[in-house]
Amino acid sequence: MTTIDETAAVKPLEFAVTRNLQAVAPERRAEILTNPGFGTTFTDHMVDLCWSTGGGWHRPRVQPYGPISLDPAAAVLHYGQEIFEGIKAYRHADGSIHTFRPDQNALRLQRSARRMALPELPVEYFIQSLKELIAVDGGWVPSGEDQTLYLRPFMFAKEAFLGVRPAQKVAYYLIASPAGAYFTGGVKPVSIWLSEDYARAASKGGTGAAKTGGNYAASLLPQSEASANGCDQVVFLDPDRNVEELGGMNVLFVKKDGTIVTPSSESILPGITRDSLLQLAEDRGHTVERRPVSLAEWREGVASGDIVEVFACGTAAVVTPIGTLKGEGFEDAQPQGELALSLREELTDIQYGRREDRHGWLLRLDA
Ligand code: PLP
Ligand code: COI
Repeated sequence: MTTIDETAAVKPLEFAVTRNLQAVAPERRAEILTNPGFGTTFTDHMVDLCWSTGGGWHRPRVQPYGPISLDPAAAVLHYGQEIFEGIKAYRHADGSIHTFRPDQNALRLQRSARRMALPELPVEYFIQSLKELIAVDGGWVPSGEDQTLYLRPFMFAKEAFLGVRPAQKVAYYLIASPAGAYFTGGVKPVSIWLSEDYARAASKGGTGAAKTGGNYAASLLPQSEASANGCDQVVFLDPDRNVEELGGMNVLFVKKDGTIVTPSSESILPGITRDSLLQLAEDRGHTVERRPVSLAEWREGVASGDIVEVFACGTAAVVTPIGTLKGEGFEDAQPQGELALSLREELTDIQYGRREDRHGWLLRLDA
């Protein structure tokens, strides 16, 4: 009988690489990279990997970017069994390509997988998939200021089966999209609409801490309501009127004494950007509190001057000051300070290799 050594390192995968013969011409690519926007153009290749209950992870491939063929009965199309991640590749001044804390994204993908009854992709495979894609599409990592290659790993139930149970066939993919600033017009304070009628995820026992498509689907109607009310983004409350997060970013409050407070609960996505900014702030001597923050604490804190800055953060948008909180019958201007932008600068300096990476957060992808 063979015994399985749970501590053994996972065996590296051998990816079969099929080059894209219709790859975008270098001149056209250079043109795209001068103004990539966000999430609209994609690189020449994608990575995919299959999983089945009997076969585990298998058929690792790098292939031309293109449509995925799915059975119309694929479970993801009916029951939304899907998870994803968001992570970036940064080009340093010497041309090398690095990513930021990929182990954290890999572990969060595993936690999302557990909640959504999907298989857990080993951390090593996650990181290997990033390296494989960069090996063929490294030329797509832009070098302009604040530009990145946004990497989107995702996993879904592809088994053709209409019964409601965890799929026995699953696909993992990685695609990539060159990115400029997430919000057009650069870093300027955003306006936030307070959603009173909708939640993005249930506050207890729900899927809020998982990065799963349904949470984002649930945020679209309130996001439209935000736009209709002239706001850029929506902020969600839990049933006890505690602040959760925005549709795609965590929220942080800076107090007069320098303490940084951020909502913590099982319904919030634990952001890696937030965790990193809080570490940098702690390194500077700030006290950090992860705890429930009520809407009353926010509004009264701003009114009394106890809260001196409010900002949001996430991989796509990095750090964005909040300029206004608007809801039914009120509009509160938010105080503007220096901390959000100074932490943003420190974080991006590390990511782009302009400052020492003292926490060992960077991983080189092209070597
Ligand atoms: N909250 C939500 C709902 C998000 O989609 C994101 C973005 O990924 C975040 C928070 C921030 O997480 P991270 O900093 O890991 O990108
Ligand atoms: C990210 O910041 O990576 C996100 O996932 C936010 C949004 C693009 C969904």
